[in-house]
Amino acid sequence: MISRYLLCALGLYATATVAVAQQESATSLKTIMQGLRNDTVSIMDAMLVDDFTAVAEAAVRISDHPRIPPEQVSLVAAELDSEMAAFKQFDTLVHDLSMSLREAAEEGDRFRVQKTFQDMIAGCLGCHLAYRQRVISALAEGN
Ligand code: HEC
Repeated sequence: MISRYLLCALGLYATATVAVAQQESATSLKTIMQGLRNDTVSIMDAMLVDDFTAVAEAAVRISDHPRIPPEQVSLVAAELDSEMAAFKQFDTLVHDLSMSLREAAEEGDRFRVQKTFQDMIAGCLGCHLAYRQRVISALAEGN
């Protein structure tokens, strides 16, 4: 009887491990972006109720977003060529602003939080305006 439970538990464990492995391998530019979107919405929600702790936590998640898988980086680099530096600069800009946002939130500086959030969103939209469609096409062709 006990061994049957044990086998069952092991089976569940194995299934869970496979699920986690699949989740990890499924990281893509798109899933990273969906994460950024969720974090941005969380920041907006938190700002509306002066929850600076939650602002700081979501800002950290933006700074620490997962890396773009190398095969996708290659496809993007092949498409953007000399503009790859500008693409990376947008990423760095958003990264740096998310760190400033965290700092401002930790200091409870509401005006700096608001201004930095707006600048960060401008960084998201700037990259989208310049590169989103091109990158989507390049990734679709590479698949
Ligand atoms: C360096 C450029 C760059 C920056 C910076 C950037 N994005 Fe994106 N984003 C992209 C690209 C490219 C896509 C298209 C990805 C795809 O569909 O494969 C995208 C797609 C998205 C999508 C659509 C995902 C979907 O389900 O189709 C969302 C939402 C998004 N980004 C949110 C954000 C947010 C929020 C930020 C800022 C915190 C941000 N992005 C910053 C390049 C960028």
